[in-house]
Amino acid sequence: MGEILEIKKYAKENHVPIMQDAGIDFLCDYIEKHGVKRILEIGTAIGYSAIRFALISHEIKVVTIEREEELYQKAKMNIQKMQLEDQIEVILGDALTVEVEGEYDLIFIDAAKSQYQKFFLKYCSALAKEGVIVTDNLSFHGMVENPELTHNRNTRQLIHKIQAYIEFLKNLEDYETTFYSIGDGVSVTKKKEGRG
Ligand SMILES: C[S@@+](CC[C@H](N)C(=O)[O-])C[C@H]1O[C@@H](n2cnc3c(N)ncnc32)[C@H](O)[C@@H]1O
Repeated sequence: MGEILEIKKYAKENHVPIMQDAGIDFLCDYIEKHGVKRILEIGTAIGYSAIRFALISHEIKVVTIEREEELYQKAKMNIQKMQLEDQIEVILGDALTVEVEGEYDLIFIDAAKSQYQKFFLKYCSALAKEGVIVTDNLSFHGMVENPELTHNRNTRQLIHKIQAYIEFLKNLEDYETTFYSIGDGVSVTKKKEGRG
């Protein structure tokens, strides 16, 4: 589809980070196979992943949050071009402070890596009983498994934050997480049976 390729091209040329092909294909497959209908996304960028999700089925509704005004405007434009305004709602604001209503089958965390745990804790109460929380970039270009790949102090700090988030997921009593080395590293977390 031409418009999707245009969005990907724009992202590449303007250094907007969007999901890698393997990661988005995995997630779209998951959404289709599990009949996911209500999606909450933290981190819209220019709307690429939200659009990919909405194109799976007319029944899918996406609420997505972006804090950068310019990206938010670009996302709104892309969504309008694709005539997906009825399916995708974009909220401009910091996901840590905005209030979002509703219950979701899938919550996709794809925003500031240093805040993953805070996003999880803020939004897990909005998860439907059989729902999942998906997190992207847990490999961070292979640096989480191999921190020696960088000597940059800020990058190292970010790697530690992601490692701590992975431990946090592993130690959650009420949830179980499966980690996939797909794309840039994806996790799928669901409530254990009989919890909540
Ligand atoms: C990796 S990009 C999202 C890519 C998008 N999901 C896709 O694959 O097309 C991450 C986005 O999250 C946004 N972001 C980071 N922290 C945020 C926050 N606290 N609240 C809302 N958006 C945030 C950034 O501005 C950036 O556009």
